[in-house]
Amino acid sequence: MKEEIAKRRSFAMIAHPDAGKTTLTEKFLLYGGAIQLAGHVRAKKERRTTKSDWMKLEQDRGISINTSAMQFEYKDHVLNLLDTPGHEDFSEDTYRTLMAVECAIMLIDAAKGVEPQTIKLFKICREKKIPIITFINKMDLPALSPFELMDNIESTLGITCTPMVWPIGSGTQFRGLYDLNKQKLYEYEKTTAGAFKAPQKIASLEDPIFQELMGERDYKQLLEDLDLAKEMLPDFDKELFLACELTPVFFGSAVHNFGVDLLMDAFLELAPPPQPVTTSNGRVIHPEDTEFTAFIFKLQANMNKAHRDRVAFARITSGIFNRGMQVKLKRTGKTVKLSSPVSFFGQERSTLDKAYPGDIIGLINPGLYRIGDILYTGEAPEYHPLPRFAPEAFVRLIPTDTNKLKAFKKGVQELAEEGVVQLFELDKQYPVLGGVGTLQFDVFRFRLEDEYGAPCRLEPLPYESSRWIRPEDKEKLSRFVKTFSDDRGNPVILFESQYRLKLFQEENPEIPLFEHPIE
Ligand code: G4P
Repeated sequence: MKEEIAKRRSFAMIAHPDAGKTTLTEKFLLYGGAIQLAGHVRAKKERRTTKSDWMKLEQDRGISINTSAMQFEYKDHVLNLLDTPGHEDFSEDTYRTLMAVECAIMLIDAAKGVEPQTIKLFKICREKKIPIITFINKMDLPALSPFELMDNIESTLGITCTPMVWPIGSGTQFRGLYDLNKQKLYEYEKTTAGAFKAPQKIASLEDPIFQELMGERDYKQLLEDLDLAKEMLPDFDKELFLACELTPVFFGSAVHNFGVDLLMDAFLELAPPPQPVTTSNGRVIHPEDTEFTAFIFKLQANMNKAHRDRVAFARITSGIFNRGMQVKLKRTGKTVKLSSPVSFFGQERSTLDKAYPGDIIGLINPGLYRIGDILYTGEAPEYHPLPRFAPEAFVRLIPTDTNKLKAFKKGVQELAEEGVVQLFELDKQYPVLGGVGTLQFDVFRFRLEDEYGAPCRLEPLPYESSRWIRPEDKEKLSRFVKTFSDDRGNPVILFESQYRLKLFQEENPEIPLFEHPIE
């Protein structure tokens, strides 16, 4: 078991849309041997697009809506990659996904530097002390200089950069990388459309053949840059890296496979294996404990339209999972049998017989599980609750086909369970959705029609903020303050502006407000 745990790395890639997350994921699979020819992920994406209009929405908007988990091997290690959608509207979902990883790869476009969505995701990692490895992508296109890029990361994100490799040239002159630790030069060759691993030649800095190939001027520049980098940039420090204070920086081109192998090799060394978790009552749960513990960080309805089911994704924190085992569901206190668990490779699934800490298991969810649920054997663990956010945008859902009301109700319930939006009841008539952005409302409407055949229209509501109150405070409020309910009957107040919220606090100092329901 110890060996299996030591082999595992659970991670996510954080990036602004278009930085190359899909491409790099595909190259990880290529180098891991999970696919033989790159182009697979994208080809699949296109195939799916013809199948589902929801995917068309994904493509039209240039965003990734579907968060999925993927498991593959690389050099005798088992990698669990959790996909985090890059769009800002999905931050709540993304936030919870990041709770299930031990490391993140931050992807940066070499021409653009740090972009807004990267900042948001970075902040979550820093807050949770998730160590970050940086990959500066698209070095084969006109790029900022390595010094400019690292300066940009340091000044925008406040994290120290330590280069682990140094790019040799950029744009059309991008030829390879110099590994600063091994002191070796890697010269890469392009393959057609980057479909195969890039062949590489390894040489030392002093190798005359290499000097000749680079030309005198570029070679001199490289030596000067390396001297400057050594002088100005700090050495790698593992402790600072684990505390998310320092990021090791890699350069490359995902599309041409330049530097992907160096990144992956270093990743295995740097990224921590599954870590112990300290619960809210101070108990430490070690991955190698024999008792099984796992938490559900994501629910997804209709993962695959052919299966028409809902899947709960659980991250194992301790113990070995065996198919058919019985565990307790902490929220209900009931025993459940985990009989048909699945693992995922993109959209494909296969039955899982055994899994270890760090792994993600998909559980078919007939409405049994909720986000944040804890599964365990032995003593119930007191995990810190997964964060929830107070919605800042609201819409009313009005069904437009009265013959489809049953499907409408079912769809609203199931899609709301995914926790990307929250369900509220203002009056008994129509459901209201609250979210941290408005894009997910469109997705919700689209999916209701596409997956449940229940068309509806969205009516924006004039609220900008929400806060939960204690049930006992509901009675205390004057008749001028209207309270609503969330889908579990907890009282909540919606405010038309931040100003109104502030005013309420000033006028009712005795009523505490909460950014999430009090469980
Ligand atoms: P994302 O998932 O982060 O949104 O990005 P994705 O991988 O889809 O990449 C966005 C675009 O950037 C794609 O081009 C992709 O081919 C390109 N790209 C990714 N990595 C590199 C790189 O290292 N060098 C260069 N030159 N391009 C890169 P596209 O035109 O949108 O799609 P496609 O027609 O190439 O498939």
